[in-house]
Amino acid sequence: MYKIIANWKMYLTIRQSRELAAQMVAWWKETPCINVDLVICPSDIAMRDVADQVGNSAIKLGAQTVSLSPTLGAFTGQTPAQQLREAGCDYVLIGHSEQRRFYGVTDAMARQQIQTAIQHRLHPVLCIGETEAERKAHRTDATVLGQLQGALQGLAWPTTGLSIAYEPVWAIGTGNAVDPKEAQRVHLLIKHALQDIFGDMRAADTSVLYGGSVNPDNFESFLQEKAVSGLLVGSASTKAESLQTMVKRIQTDYCQVTL
Ligand code: PGA
Repeated sequence: MYKIIANWKMYLTIRQSRELAAQMVAWWKETPCINVDLVICPSDIAMRDVADQVGNSAIKLGAQTVSLSPTLGAFTGQTPAQQLREAGCDYVLIGHSEQRRFYGVTDAMARQQIQTAIQHRLHPVLCIGETEAERKAHRTDATVLGQLQGALQGLAWPTTGLSIAYEPVWAIGTGNAVDPKEAQRVHLLIKHALQDIFGDMRAADTSVLYGGSVNPDNFESFLQEKAVSGLLVGSASTKAESLQTMVKRIQTDYCQVTL
């Protein structure tokens, strides 16, 4: 099963989010993609409107981040995992590079967010990736492994399941996606690290997604790499046609139909 996670970031108004979700649901009814897990991550305030559209369809909902606190309380400005569940979320992005860069999320915080997510039955999608400076200093592997271990080492295997998104920071929103062969290499590195942390079976159960300037013209080059089991898509996921093109092609060309 391939996963496509649509990260709508802060690109859309509530009305635009609702309309795009409605378009996706109508399209999905006509073109059911049974071997693709599509997860839409709107902004928190658009969540209920998007949930109303998504309803009982197979499209799932995710949040872009979550409060560190597992309990409700005095945390001004935060969204608790409880509310995300109530609003219909099943997934949550953790440690997205924009959260790390603009809001100071660290590996230790990401770890706490993962624990909170699991406690409230949200499937965490841990985002990791090197900056351009780290890449130039040949520190890609050290950065990726450090972030992975910092957030996961010592945790019990999440009952919710777990996904990892490899998103080189320099590739996000720049139009410069990573070379697919390099993505494959880093995905294998991540898979091996997951084997060390959780064992072979759990590592095999973990989707490792690629993200960073994915669009309808380049997405297939990533899926042709064996270790890439899905995509985290930002700006291209805010256009119905682009998102539909990618989901449909994955369904027809990359999944065994089990009707
Ligand atoms: P992008 O964003 O597809 O616009 O590069 C990806 C992400 O930040 O998740």
